[in-house]
Parts: sequence; C-alpha cells; structure tokens
Amino acid sequence: MFNLHYRLERSAIGFVLAIIGVASIGGLIEIAPLFTIDETVEKAPDMRVYTPLEVAGRNIYMREGCYACHSQMIRTLRDEVERYGPYSLAVESKYDHPMLWGSKRTGPDLARVGGKYSNDWHVAHLTNPRDVVAESNMPAYRWLSSKQLKTGDLGEHLAALRAVGVPYTDEMVSNASSDAIGQANPDTDLAAGVTTRYGDKTDVSLFDGNQGAVTEMDALVAYLQILGHLTDAAHQSTQNEVE
Ligand code: HEC
Repeated sequence: MFNLHYRLERSAIGFVLAIIGVASIGGLIEIAPLFTIDETVEKAPDMRVYTPLEVAGRNIYMREGCYACHSQMIRTLRDEVERYGPYSLAVESKYDHPMLWGSKRTGPDLARVGGKYSNDWHVAHLTNPRDVVAESNMPAYRWLSSKQLKTGDLGEHLAALRAVGVPYTDEMVSNASSDAIGQANPDTDLAAGVTTRYGDKTDVSLFDGNQGAVTEMDALVAYLQILGHLTDAAHQSTQNEVE
C-alpha cells in the first residue's frame, strides 16, 4: 500500500488520474440517483398544475420569505406522518420551480395545510396570527388584503414555468390574467373558464371574503389551500399507512 503511493507520486500523470478518480467518487454519488429519475419520481396521472392565481400566491410566499420559517416536506418518520399526514412524494414537487422544501421549521410544515382551515381562518391568521393562535410569534401580513394583485404579467409567469417543463397549454397562458380574476370571483363569467382549464375540482372562491378586486390575500390563500392537493398520490400509496 505504502509502496503504491510512493510509486504513484513519482508518476505525475498517474497521480493526477488517481486524484481525479478519488475526487469524482463524491460527484458520482450525487449524480447517480438522477440516472434513475424516472423510477424515483412516482407516476401521478391526476396531478394538476398550479392555476395562475396559485402561481401568484406562490410568488408572494417566496417574496415574503415564508419558507424561512415553514418547510413543505413531510419526512418519512412516524412522528411527522402522525402530525402532518402522508409523507411527501417526489412527484408532489414536480411542478415546483423553485422547490420550497425549506430547511427550518419555526412554524409547522405546510405541505398538507390545504383544506385544514377555512379561507376565513387564513385571512384572520395572516392579518394577525395572535387573533387565532394566542401564543403565535408569526409576523402579521395585514397589507395583503388591501394590495391589489398584479395580474397582467401572469401569462409570462406561466410561459416561464412552461419553459422549464410545466405542461401549461397555450390557452392557459393566454387566459392567465382573466383566470386569476375568475378564480377569486365565483358567479362571474370568468370563473367558468378556470374549471374548464384546470379541472372541476379547482377551488373557485372568495378567498379574501370580498367580491371584485383580486388582492394579494386572495392569491396567497388560494395557494395555501392547494398545498397537498395537486394529486392524491400520497394518500393512495399503501406504503404510507402508519401501522
Ligand atoms: C418568523 C417565522 C414565521 C414566518 C416568517 C411565517 N410564519 Fe407562519 N407560522 C409561524 C409559527 C410559529 C406558526 C405556528 C403558530 C400559528 O399558527 O400562528 C405559524 C403557522 C402558520 C400556519 C398554520 C399552520 C398550521 O398547520 O396550523 C400557516 C398557514 C402559516 N403559518 C402560513 C405562513 C405564511 C403564508 C407565511 C408568509 C406570508 C408565514 N406563515 C410566515 C411562523 C412563521
């Protein structure tokens, strides 16, 4: 062994090749799982894309740095599954660009928060968390209710996501602005287009409680309510059952 090293050091090329060989082991370990990406990411035929309003909400979530306190990934550990629900599957983040798994939990994981509370609860909580959870140390985001959502550029956001692989159709891209307004205004002509394009199960609601102008609160609540509901794959997986 010692002799081998001694001889290697005397041959410059051999030594360089040996260094490259050893240094690439770590790289290979990182890259190898990508070769099996097709098997790693589960199939979920029912997986739908985010609506323009949800994309806008996701952008606000990033802008406000919610990910600094909230993760969106339930680990395969029993305590996590019992607290939050079925553990996160790779396919559930398939359309997340960038992913928001997070690395810190000052507040709870949000991967399955969709449907856990009413829209009104979310509005009250974001307006002042202490009103609904007395001991909360989450900041208040009350301006979201009075800030009108910028919907004009949502088509461009969808087109950008399509460029990285999210299957938005031309029709979804060209109707993005009106679909965002429609999803927050049920009982209007624009609302029908949203369910036609994104599926009957799409939540069309007065997210912030008010008809008319679409606010940033509408967008953020719509996004929070879809978390964990883009596909049912995690609930169907029998491996996910806690015995
Ligand atoms: C400084 C850390 C912090 C930041 C930043 C933060 N939160 Fe929280 N969040 C918390 C804490 C702590 C709780 C638990 C207490 C509570 O419910 O208010 C919480 C709870 C929540 C809950 C309820 C989760 C549940 O299952 O009960 C939601 C939803 C939520 N936050 C959304 C958000 C959103 C959206 C943002 C960004 C606009 C955000 N949070 C920013 C700390 C934070």
